[in-house]
Amino acid sequence: MSSPILVTCGLPYANGPCHLGHLRTYVPADIYVRSLRKMGRDVLFVCGSDAHGTPIVVNAEAQGVEPKALVAKYHRHFDEVFKGLGVDFDIFGDTDDPACHNRTQEMVLALMEGGHVYPKEIELAYCPTCQRFLPDRYVEGECPYCGKHARGDECDMGCGRHLEPGEIKNAVCKVCGGKAEYRKQVHYFFRLSQFKDFLLKYLETLGGTASARNYAMEWVRQELKDWCITRNMSWGVKFPGSSDLVVYVWVDAPIGYIAFTEEWCAKNNVDWKRYWKSDSRIVHFIGGDIVYHHCIFWPSMLKGAGYTLPSAVVASGMLKIDDKKFSKSRGNVIWVKEDYLDKGLHPDLLRYYLASYTAHNKEVNFSWKIFADKVNTELVGAFGNFLNRALTFAVKNFEARVPHGEMDQEVMERIEETTKDFVSAMEEYEFKKATDSVMSLADYGNTYFQSHEPWKLVKGDKARAGAVLRSCLQIAKALVILMDPIMPSKMDFAWRQLGLEGDVSCKPFQDALEPMIAGQPLGRPQILFSRIEEATVQGLERIFLERVEKAEAEGRIVEKKRQISFEEFSSLELCIGEINEAGRIKGSEKLLKLNVDIGSETRQVVAGIAQWYRPEDLVGTQVVVLTNLKPAKLFGIESQAMLLAADANGKAVLLQPRESVKTGTKVR
Ligand code: 2FM
Ligand code: ZN
Repeated sequence: MSSPILVTCGLPYANGPCHLGHLRTYVPADIYVRSLRKMGRDVLFVCGSDAHGTPIVVNAEAQGVEPKALVAKYHRHFDEVFKGLGVDFDIFGDTDDPACHNRTQEMVLALMEGGHVYPKEIELAYCPTCQRFLPDRYVEGECPYCGKHARGDECDMGCGRHLEPGEIKNAVCKVCGGKAEYRKQVHYFFRLSQFKDFLLKYLETLGGTASARNYAMEWVRQELKDWCITRNMSWGVKFPGSSDLVVYVWVDAPIGYIAFTEEWCAKNNVDWKRYWKSDSRIVHFIGGDIVYHHCIFWPSMLKGAGYTLPSAVVASGMLKIDDKKFSKSRGNVIWVKEDYLDKGLHPDLLRYYLASYTAHNKEVNFSWKIFADKVNTELVGAFGNFLNRALTFAVKNFEARVPHGEMDQEVMERIEETTKDFVSAMEEYEFKKATDSVMSLADYGNTYFQSHEPWKLVKGDKARAGAVLRSCLQIAKALVILMDPIMPSKMDFAWRQLGLEGDVSCKPFQDALEPMIAGQPLGRPQILFSRIEEATVQGLERIFLERVEKAEAEGRIVEKKRQISFEEFSSLELCIGEINEAGRIKGSEKLLKLNVDIGSETRQVVAGIAQWYRPEDLVGTQVVVLTNLKPAKLFGIESQAMLLAADANGKAVLLQPRESVKTGTKVR
């Protein structure tokens, strides 16, 4: 018996709904697992929610709920979406499950016993106002490597490096916005630096996508720093022997893969060690942004604690929407439940899109237009059309039975070749190639039907027409068996139309060559795929565009501007002024004309605040004035300075000194 295969998918953080970007991991992994099963392999498919980490705590705090409740909500959501899409995990766990806490502590203790973990005093960002240490997402500042604005754990706007606790410069507390200090505290480190030689060798043999392996290799060749694996938080897995530290989320998250395997095995009377302490084959499907964690941290941990090493890491490329970078804050996002499943769109159409658009490690672009186009030309026009033509013809002319007649050898050879291509593409994680090979068999089928003209043959040589049809039905059977991993629910429907027995998902690929039995009854032909009409596309596009517009209007697009020097800032002349005259401007609903005393002189200012302030209420008010802005004419009136105001959802709120100060006082 061949060794068992364990396939995992990167665990989604349970802190927000599932979007199309997520699916680039889960759908291809599910296609892969279904294909392995059709190759007769022994596979277990596990995933679960990533319950820990600072983003979840920050989000829960913002929503006024406990992290546990937030996790439960999104755990259910992901579970439901995955089921809706036919992503069929054997188990979908949660890293806050006791099994994960236990396995994490066991592994950390094993690493400690092996001498792979050591304590060290480090300086960490601490907020004196909030009186707490600031782990990961609780702090922002400057990246020590490239100087760009960064989060506590990642230089997300610059060089993309993972940042270790204490590394961030000029730290600012994310909760209160105050300047953080650096305080000393003992934390625990994993001796990653000692795994360099191991990793160099291991990565040589690592399967999966070449891009993942090559990136990881490059990083290992550069420098491997020891890795801080503890955090000051209460939400998470307790670090053994410590009352106030939990392990870093990137320690317990991948351990979830083991814990979920254990949970499944316990329920199914299987020894979990056959997956994690034997010569099993472990394949991780992940997003391209977490290669470092899966190719560097994770294999080193497994090696240090004595577990089976992953055989392959399959990393997906990114997703673009309408050729623009995916962005939740800009509204450039497709929510899988709200925008797709709840609109009654069939899950298999999206599965097909994701599998067939481009190679797994490349960027996928999604738009509703391309979606409709692919469905209409490829699924309706080619695949569905062939199946329907062959079936309808046989039903009409051969009493709804598979006709007698010799199977065309060329057809059998073509099916055999396609099956081989499909299987070898799947084994190399080439989902597009695999899908394309099936689609070209469908094209072949259409050409075969067309060129053999059975509608003419049937009038004079019915036996010959029967042979052509039997060959066409064989192609149809092969198409359904091969396409089943990609579109399982549609193929189940097609299988029954062909009058075939049993469950197509259990039929091995070789059955594509098992001849259709002459005389066997066929099912009733029904439309397999329907056209997506222009009006539907427009409706879907409208929803998407409205979201983008709304995001823009709400000013949620906080563009990160370049950093400026203190000198650049000093070139702004800001001071406190006092409004001593205010009046409306004829013909303008938005502008007010003000005279503002700035100490040394009075300036005429045109300000766009008429919607929110009455002129009479402004006289005598102190304001913040930018005095060295180039004068400009508005409505024919020169404006010689600018008042500063907060943009509160589009409403201007004038800035004022907290207490009255002398007119002309500098603002710095
Ligand atoms: O990046 C993420 O979304 C993480 N939640 C993935 C964790 S994968 C694994 F290691 F558990
Ligand atoms: Zn603070």
